[in-house]
Amino acid sequence: MEKFDVCIIGGGPAGYVSALKCAINGLSAAIIEKERFGGTCLNRGCIPTKVLYSKAKYLNKIKKPERGFSINGFSFNYGEIINYKDEVVSTLTGGVEKLLKARKVNIFYGMGKIAGRENGVFRVGINANDGSDVQISADNVIAATGSVPLMIPAFNIDHKNIITSDEALSLRNIPESLIIIGAGVIGCEFANIFSEFGSAVKMIELLPSILSTEDKEISKFINKNFKSRNIDIMTGVEVAGIKALGLNGKSGAEVELKTGDKFETEKVLVSIGRKLNTAALGLEEIGVKLDNRGKIETDTHNETNIKGIYACGDIIDGPMLAHKASYDGIIAADNIAGIVKEKDYGVLPWSIYTNPAIGTIGLKEGDAALSELNYNVGRFSYAASGMALAMEESEGFLKVIVDEKSKKILGATGIGADIPELIAEIASYMHFGGTVFDIESTIHSHPTLSEIVPESALDSIGEAVHKFNPRTAKK
Ligand code: NAI
Repeated sequence: MEKFDVCIIGGGPAGYVSALKCAINGLSAAIIEKERFGGTCLNRGCIPTKVLYSKAKYLNKIKKPERGFSINGFSFNYGEIINYKDEVVSTLTGGVEKLLKARKVNIFYGMGKIAGRENGVFRVGINANDGSDVQISADNVIAATGSVPLMIPAFNIDHKNIITSDEALSLRNIPESLIIIGAGVIGCEFANIFSEFGSAVKMIELLPSILSTEDKEISKFINKNFKSRNIDIMTGVEVAGIKALGLNGKSGAEVELKTGDKFETEKVLVSIGRKLNTAALGLEEIGVKLDNRGKIETDTHNETNIKGIYACGDIIDGPMLAHKASYDGIIAADNIAGIVKEKDYGVLPWSIYTNPAIGTIGLKEGDAALSELNYNVGRFSYAASGMALAMEESEGFLKVIVDEKSKKILGATGIGADIPELIAEIASYMHFGGTVFDIESTIHSHPTLSEIVPESALDSIGEAVHKFNPRTAKK
């Protein structure tokens, strides 16, 4: 039986990054993946949606050309866009496989399961994709099996008319009408894409607002933006059931609400959250503890209660984000190699690709208001940025939450062109405990959108240079 220092089960952003980091740390590593490398992020999530997002933005510019241009007639071939998306995915997933091979990580294609432990060494069974059964052993195991879309029986997901985000990425034609159940991150990203390509989109959300976990101002902004683009939004509404039906000779579906109202549509996209892939891993048999939400309990090294078994990504605590999963993988790989690192999700940025995009990090204004903290909020509008005006991207703002006494940056959120890149800059300041004055003394290239960062931070102390009415003037 082949033996390794580490066996990683799952080849998504948590698994493949931890495998590469194990190899970089000089450990022998095996990785087991049942499909293509890259997990949800590369195959069915972040990357393919960004291809469609980018094409939808381009289409938006064609439909509403910048000043000085008129475009007389255009057409698009959505099938060709999907072909391009598939090529991007293949390039990147193939690239991950090449990286693993270059680092001499042993690759097994199939389903992995912890089969037992003998003399402190784990035995891992692999039900290989070629039909064979293989056994390997390892001193450490990293479980990184991710999540899949949540499905509930009453929604009758048939993967044709009633679909999840997995199928939504491979439709070869734009549906005339689309009902999206769940107006969270996935629901809103797809509403943006499909409405731009011409679907009549209706969103049905259980909670009182769309993007309900985001900053209230951001949620309102995107609600208004969607409505202005004729996206129909119903909030505080419960769905009783969904069934597939024939619609004017075409396939279709009917959504019935608890109120008895019924809506017919060509497709229904169900995006109501995700389910963890922790079953069939042999975790419970070996005694790994799960919490009351079914997530694997880990310590600050991402080690479970069973010494030598680590877990990373969606299946453990924290938000389901690809970059958080990769961070988890690095923490596990370093601790296994004896490089002691404690995980800390305190400075964890995230982005939502609507048009304009949303970016957030750290403390939200709403949570600050409920806390005992003394803080100030600085904000700056895209409309006051020379670069944003030059780009005809003047919609949006960035606001920064600052500790009143220390002037440390506690959080930031915004909406606008390239805002995720601005948030990435703020992440660096926050990681190093940076203050408003650190941002002020960092020279920002002109003209760039990044100048919005110092302006909003300085506004928190009433010192934004290019602002007529500073929001606060507290020192
Ligand atoms: P989500 O948790 O963001 O949103 C689900 C929404 O569905 C919530 O607003 C919820 O109230 C609503 N909902 C739940 N049950 C419902 C029902 N029966 N009827 C109507 N509405 C219902 O989950 P989502 O959008 O599926 O995304 C899953 C995960 O993927 C998220 O945790 C997110 O972090 C991650 N993700 C991140 C992205 C990014 O970083 N840009 C992009 C896409 C996903």
